[in-house]
Amino acid sequence: MFISFEGTEGVGKTTLIQRIYAHLEQQGKQVVLTREPGGTPMAEQIRSLLLSVNHEESMCNDTELLLMYAARAQHLAQVIEPALTQGQTVLCDRFTDASFAYQCAGRGLSQEKLELLNDNFVSRMPNFTFWLDAPIDIGMNRARERGALDRFEQEKFSFFEKVRSGYEQLWQKYPERIKRLDATQTPDQVFAQALAYLDAV
Ligand code: TMP
Repeated sequence: MFISFEGTEGVGKTTLIQRIYAHLEQQGKQVVLTREPGGTPMAEQIRSLLLSVNHEESMCNDTELLLMYAARAQHLAQVIEPALTQGQTVLCDRFTDASFAYQCAGRGLSQEKLELLNDNFVSRMPNFTFWLDAPIDIGMNRARERGALDRFEQEKFSFFEKVRSGYEQLWQKYPERIKRLDATQTPDQVFAQALAYLDAV
């Protein structure tokens, strides 16, 4: 089983993933917890490039998209595919839906570019995706409390509104795969809502 977690900044993905990880391990499952961009040493280096704020040169939108997919190709080959082949459960903090939400809906890149990459470089889609949804101001406040903001977190409110509507479009398009969790609830309530979906699978 391959499960991904999505949402805008500060919606509580990390807390939920850790709780689900602990829950599945308690059930005796072998679980791999990983993230994108990142998940392998090389993909984590690409992540640093993507998230760091460079005042000398701004990153082009196409570069951003291609780096996301370079990291993803490495991650799929080195971590996700081997784990799934061994029958392990993979919990992945973000996957291709983030590329649609951030690079297409947020940055305005065409869906054709994304589809080209997905068709050629993504061997596998999650069986199940949790979308943690909350108004942008709630998440941004939480992200700010965590400290220095990365290159994405420094984006304007209007950018995240577009990202959120991108996720909503995906949720409407893939209701079987993507489950919306109300991230304005307490962490306990979000976890309970997620478990109810997982137990029904
Ligand atoms: P994180 O803060 O959830 O770890 O994610 C890092 C940032 O990368 C986050 O702001 C969303 C962004 N991102 C994209 O823009 N496109 C992608 O395909 C992925 C996986 C992440």
